[in-house]
Amino acid sequence: DLGGYPHYMAKEIQEQPESVERIIRGRLDDRFGVARLDGLNLTPRELRGFSRVKILGCGSAYYVGQVGATMIEELARIPADAEAASEFRYRNPIIEADTLYIAVSQSGETIDTAFAVEEIKRKGGRVVGLVNVVGSTIARACDGGVYLHAGPEIAVASTKALTNMAVGFALIALTLGRVRDLSNADGQRIIDAIRALPGQIKSILDFEPEIAEHAKTVAVAKSLFFVGRVRGYPVAREGAQKFKEISYRHAEAYQTSELKHGPLALIDEALPTVAVVPSDELTGRNLAAVQQIKARGGAVLAVTHENVDFGELDVPRIVVPKTEPELDPILLTIPLQLLAYHAALTLGYDIDKPRNLAKSVTVE
Ligand code: BG6
Repeated sequence: DLGGYPHYMAKEIQEQPESVERIIRGRLDDRFGVARLDGLNLTPRELRGFSRVKILGCGSAYYVGQVGATMIEELARIPADAEAASEFRYRNPIIEADTLYIAVSQSGETIDTAFAVEEIKRKGGRVVGLVNVVGSTIARACDGGVYLHAGPEIAVASTKALTNMAVGFALIALTLGRVRDLSNADGQRIIDAIRALPGQIKSILDFEPEIAEHAKTVAVAKSLFFVGRVRGYPVAREGAQKFKEISYRHAEAYQTSELKHGPLALIDEALPTVAVVPSDELTGRNLAAVQQIKARGGAVLAVTHENVDFGELDVPRIVVPKTEPELDPILLTIPLQLLAYHAALTLGYDIDKPRNLAKSVTVE
């Protein structure tokens, strides 16, 4: 049921304030500044025992895994990384007893991710799931997990499930942090920020008409760059992924820091860049990169925060509300969903069922 929306993707984007409410409901504990994630089936002692976190997923779920790895490193100070489950399963991975493995999947049926889980379990590793579909193959195979409660997602390009994955990672990072060195006050700071997300997402969605105008401009280009660094890099990757999936335009993500090590050679009037420029400790460096792109004739569209001062730079902006720095990627991603959606709409493609793609890939 489209409920009056032209596409499922539009509906699912708009549902995000409510779907984020659902993943956090009953899971935030103000007294101790922690998240309640009983479904993980891990005692505080077990949670303390992990010295590494490895996140596995495919496509957008892999990119959001990278968002999660950064949150875990920042809040819990445990080395964490994300890997494409489709690669991990084929490379005889080393499974360690003190690593917490996290499988991320909307459908819970993606064969590459399911196989990665099997491989971890076969070798005696501990794996939990961050899964949307209750009772799915991956959810059942894991030792525990956090259900996303995003509700059914129909559009092939994932939106609300991904946002809930990112929020789910914030809850896991909080849990891992609070059995280590994250203070009660810092825990509370993150809890308050998580609670504010639904209202902030709503305020981004209110800017849809402006974002649609930007989309018309970028849809003209045959090829685009999406750039971000550290927290912003997985945001750029997801932005590029969504763009290519539904608008069939070549969109490539780079770390902003890597531009000068190669891709800058491609910049000219015909190749616009979508730059993720949050207000944080790297703002100055990001602005310097924007300046370098502009100096080579490249157009830039920035996804940024209100207080970032672009000075003389003539750069159109999509401004998102500021949250705590660790959670910024959650909100920075939302306008990129709308940018991809409106670019595809402008170009007249089949938004909910892009060519050559399936909602979940369950065969080899
Ligand atoms: C891809 C889909 O095939 O699978 C992506 O096209 C999705 O949208 C990816 O992110 C992973 O799917 P799931 O269900 O495991 O999250």
